[in-house]
Amino acid sequence: MSNELAEHLKYFAEMGVSGVSRDPAWRTRRDAASAVAAGGHGDVSADRLLAGLEAEIGPDCTRCKLAGLGRRQVVFGVGNPRARLMFVGEGPGEEEDKQGEPFVGRAGQLLTKIIEAIGLTREQVYIANVIKCRPPGNRNPEPDEVAACEPFLFRQIDAIQPRVIVALGKFAAQCLLRTADPITRLRGKEFDYRGATLIPTFHPAYLLRNPPAKREVWEDMKKVRALLQGDRRP
Ligand code: URA
Repeated sequence: MSNELAEHLKYFAEMGVSGVSRDPAWRTRRDAASAVAAGGHGDVSADRLLAGLEAEIGPDCTRCKLAGLGRRQVVFGVGNPRARLMFVGEGPGEEEDKQGEPFVGRAGQLLTKIIEAIGLTREQVYIANVIKCRPPGNRNPEPDEVAACEPFLFRQIDAIQPRVIVALGKFAAQCLLRTADPITRLRGKEFDYRGATLIPTFHPAYLLRNPPAKREVWEDMKKVRALLQGDRRP
């Protein structure tokens, strides 16, 4: 048994995984039935689960203080409920808060180009954020805000059951992986995450400030494409 475990850990180390958490909860994908039990509406289709989840959050969510700090609306997520590829960002910015859709500002336009560069459209993938409401002045989300909101992201992931999750930037990657490792250490690696392969990469807003980093993101997106095409094992 301990040999098996050692082999397993060696395999993950070769894959570039730098640590193993003792809390299995967030890395374990719930099956559809328990996703339903956790708040679904008795129908296991991803569309229904997502619609139920959005309704459960509600348009006037007050689970955290962002409700009283000027957010215009809850920005739930957008795209194909059966997407094989899901992107996770940090939280809505000003434009997203206005339009009610993630990644529609300048960074979002770049994300659209990144998606198209691997032959997909925004409509084919799913895009969500760790927190669903805009923090004032685009400050970083605070721990209590993340704690109130992230269970909904986990349930979005479990409803969609994507093959690949791309964590956009330090905040999303650190939050999903429960690590304080910098994005420069996380990117370039792959993680087994809730039944998907998670690929951390740079945030498109960072790419707007540092265009040369697009090269690394392209490397990551080629990996994503290969995983989706099924010519690589997770
Ligand atoms: N940045 C994010 O992390 N998410 C958005 O939706 C927009 C900008």
